[in-house]
Amino acid sequence: MEYKIKTIGVLTSGGDAPGMNAAIRAVTRAALGNNIRVKAIYRGYNGLINDEIKEFTDPQDVSGIIYRGGTILYTARSEEFRTPEGRKKAYEVLQKEEIDALIVIGGDGSFTGARALAQEWNVPVIGIPATIDNDLWGTDATIGYDTALNTIVECVDKLRDTGMSHERLFIVEVMGRDAGFLTLNAAIAAGAEAAIIPERDALGQEVENAMNGRKHKSSGIILVQEHAIEGGAQAVADLIQKHHPEVSTRVTILGHLQRGGSPTAYDRIIASQMGCAAIQALLEEQRSVMVGLVNGEIIYVPLSKAIKEKKDISNAKWKDMLTLSV
Ligand code: F6P
Repeated sequence: MEYKIKTIGVLTSGGDAPGMNAAIRAVTRAALGNNIRVKAIYRGYNGLINDEIKEFTDPQDVSGIIYRGGTILYTARSEEFRTPEGRKKAYEVLQKEEIDALIVIGGDGSFTGARALAQEWNVPVIGIPATIDNDLWGTDATIGYDTALNTIVECVDKLRDTGMSHERLFIVEVMGRDAGFLTLNAAIAAGAEAAIIPERDALGQEVENAMNGRKHKSSGIILVQEHAIEGGAQAVADLIQKHHPEVSTRVTILGHLQRGGSPTAYDRIIASQMGCAAIQALLEEQRSVMVGLVNGEIIYVPLSKAIKEKKDISNAKWKDMLTLSV
């Protein structure tokens, strides 16, 4: 008997990322264009458990959102969904709403939950990678990463103006959870003196290199990934003050600024591409895969691999040729 998806549910989950709205828009329009009904689930898995669902019947239901940051569906990190009981409730709501496949827009925590739901209740799920951290294996970029990277570089450029004027060393804390992609690439783009990331364990050396790198000038920038060292940017500043008390330092924690703002054109484009690819995956009867983008081409990778495999941070030789000490 031919099995056909008639209705999908779509939700955003975990930390919001600029471009999530573009993905919601693409999923909705690609589904409606293929005569698949779309049920929008609000507030992530919590909203699924609590049946906070509204049908999108018209492509116009998602108009005017492609340029907006955040997510119109709201998002959450659901504790209840981490439990088998929570996932059972979620499955019962899917049954009640006659949703026969789920599209999850989020990061690795969201995909871990999606995979458990798929395994326990045989629900077809497709993941669309959206997180500013860019820490998912199987895709060169995640939705939101490019926007956050540009936001960080813009902020660091501004700090450089004041740092240069006051001959100060700015130590800037960057998000990323366990990954250093934002920190390393923002440091390269902003011409920072050093990037301290969890993937490399050479803090003392990084700081010394940075101090040497700024010998010819009185100001400088060091980017510190939030979890690279206990105490974050402040701990690095304390270390520098201890060994170089003559240096004037200031600490800036960029915080949630990094998650906001209108998505870049690149994020809007990949979100649109991945949203359509998610519907294509369902039409091809794929299950439990994440949409990825490798060398500009869409690929599908098992959710299990996307979650478990560690994405390598590039150690490309050209990065060693910069003054940047990474
Ligand atoms: O995963 C996205 C992210 O912004 C991380 O970079 C950061 O560590 C975390 O979320 C912050 O989470 P919250 O918004 O719950 O403080």
